[in-house]
Amino acid sequence: MSEHLTVVDHPLVQHKLTLMRDKGTSTAVFRQLLREITLLLAYEVTRELKLTTRHIETPMEEMDAPILAGKKLALVSILRAGNGMLDGVLELIPSARVGFVGLYRDEETLKPVQYYFKAPEELKDRLVIAVDPMLATGNSSAAAIDLLKEAGATDIRFLCLLAAPEGVARMKEAHPDVHIVTAALDRQLNSKGYIMPGLGDAGDRMFGTK
Ligand code: URA
Repeated sequence: MSEHLTVVDHPLVQHKLTLMRDKGTSTAVFRQLLREITLLLAYEVTRELKLTTRHIETPMEEMDAPILAGKKLALVSILRAGNGMLDGVLELIPSARVGFVGLYRDEETLKPVQYYFKAPEELKDRLVIAVDPMLATGNSSAAAIDLLKEAGATDIRFLCLLAAPEGVARMKEAHPDVHIVTAALDRQLNSKGYIMPGLGDAGDRMFGTK
């Protein structure tokens, strides 16, 4: 595992991912599994949050107990599939603020074009966790991170479910400072930009649009 990429090989994550990959898994179960797996991935992506101590009294005695140092968090969903990961992270960090980035691919230039951007205030003071289940070509992910940096973010992590080597390389080139956490690094992209073996179109599978 490099500085830039963490693959979460926990057995529960791998088990749930296999169920999600299976084309026979229903939309409802896919969505539920995505929420559960995101909770486990969120545990990993927040592993280095800073702690301070608070003086408390247990029923037995006083102690200085660890507590989060209070760095504010922002979750940013890359539309539309990122929305499927929001609930899982919010369950673990309910006080996080939430932003959204919408990008589409211009069919002539093949470049990502922004159609929506709404981020919480004071991004520069926050740990920003961008979520998108599929890191495929990396073009839209890199563009979304560009927008977050333009809006002031300096401490960004990228949380996904599946990554392709091509997407990881693209992100490393564009944003070497952004640590990626994923449940699996798959083999490659196919000619249409889908991750192989992958799980198909994550948005369609979670929203039942195909
Ligand atoms: N987006 C998806 O939903 N699936 C892929 O395989 C690649 C990009």
